[in-house]
Amino acid sequence: MEIPKHVAVIMDGNGRWATERKLSRIEGHKEGIKTVKKIIQAAIKNNIQYLTLYAFSSENWNRPEDEVIGLMQLLNSFLKFEEKTLLKNKVRLKTIGRIYELPKNTYQAIESLKSKTEQFDGLTLTVALNYSSQNEIVDAVKAMIDQSQKGTLDIENISYKEIAQNLDTKDLPDPDLIIRTSGEYRLSNFLLLQSAYSEIYISTIYWPDFNQSHFEKAISHYRKRERRFGTIMNKSTLKNLEPNS
Ligand code: FPP
Repeated sequence: MEIPKHVAVIMDGNGRWATERKLSRIEGHKEGIKTVKKIIQAAIKNNIQYLTLYAFSSENWNRPEDEVIGLMQLLNSFLKFEEKTLLKNKVRLKTIGRIYELPKNTYQAIESLKSKTEQFDGLTLTVALNYSSQNEIVDAVKAMIDQSQKGTLDIENISYKEIAQNLDTKDLPDPDLIIRTSGEYRLSNFLLLQSAYSEIYISTIYWPDFNQSHFEKAISHYRKRERRFGTIMNKSTLKNLEPNS
C-alpha cells in the first residue's frame, strides 16, 4: 500500500517516562517536545503530507495547576523557537480545538504563526489544543443549527459531508494512520468521527523515547495492511472499478 497521506499521533507516556526516572512530570513533557521536533522532521523525510499531534485535550485542564502552566509555557517556547524551522521547511501550521480558550499570549502566538505559514505547501502540521472530539461535534451541531436558521443549510438534506465541513478538520483528509505511544489502547476523545476507517498502530514506547525509526516502523506496518473501507476489496481495486479509470 502507498504511504499514509495523513498520520495522527496520540503522544502518550511523558508522565510515566518522568516518574520512572524520579523526575517531575513537566520534565517528561520537556523531553516530549524534543520528540515532537524529531517526528516533524521524520514526517518531512518520509513525505507525509499531514501530521496531526494531540498536544492538549480539553480534559487536560483538570491536571494539577503547575503541570497545566508548565505545558502552556512549553507550548509558548515551542512556538517561539520552532518558528524558524517551520518557515525554513515550509511547514503549514494549523490547529484543531477551542484555541480561543487558551491563555491570550499563547492564542496570539499561535494565530500569528498560522497566518505566517498558511500559504506553505510543505507538511501540514496540525496541533490539537484544548481539543475534544465530542466538543468539536457539539460545536459543529451548533454551527449547523445557526446556518439552518439563517437559511444557508437545508436540514432535510444533511449528509455526513455537511457534518464534516463543520468540524475543525474540514480542510484535512481523514487520518490514514493513528499512532498511539506508551501501549494504551484508547482513542481518548481524539478524531472520533474522522478515524472511522483509520488504521491504528500502538507502540509500547513512551513518547519521549519515540524516534524516527519507531515512526518509520509504524508506517511500514501500515503499508502492509489491507484497507477495505467496509467492502471486501481494497482501495486500489475500488479505484480501478471507477467509471473513468
Ligand atoms: C501525554 O503524556 C502527553 C500530554 C498530555 C502532553 C503532550 C504534550 C507535549 C509533548 C508537549 C506539547 C506539544 C507541542 C506540539 C508543542 P501523559 O502526561 O498523559 O503521560 P502519562 O500517561 O504517562 O501520565
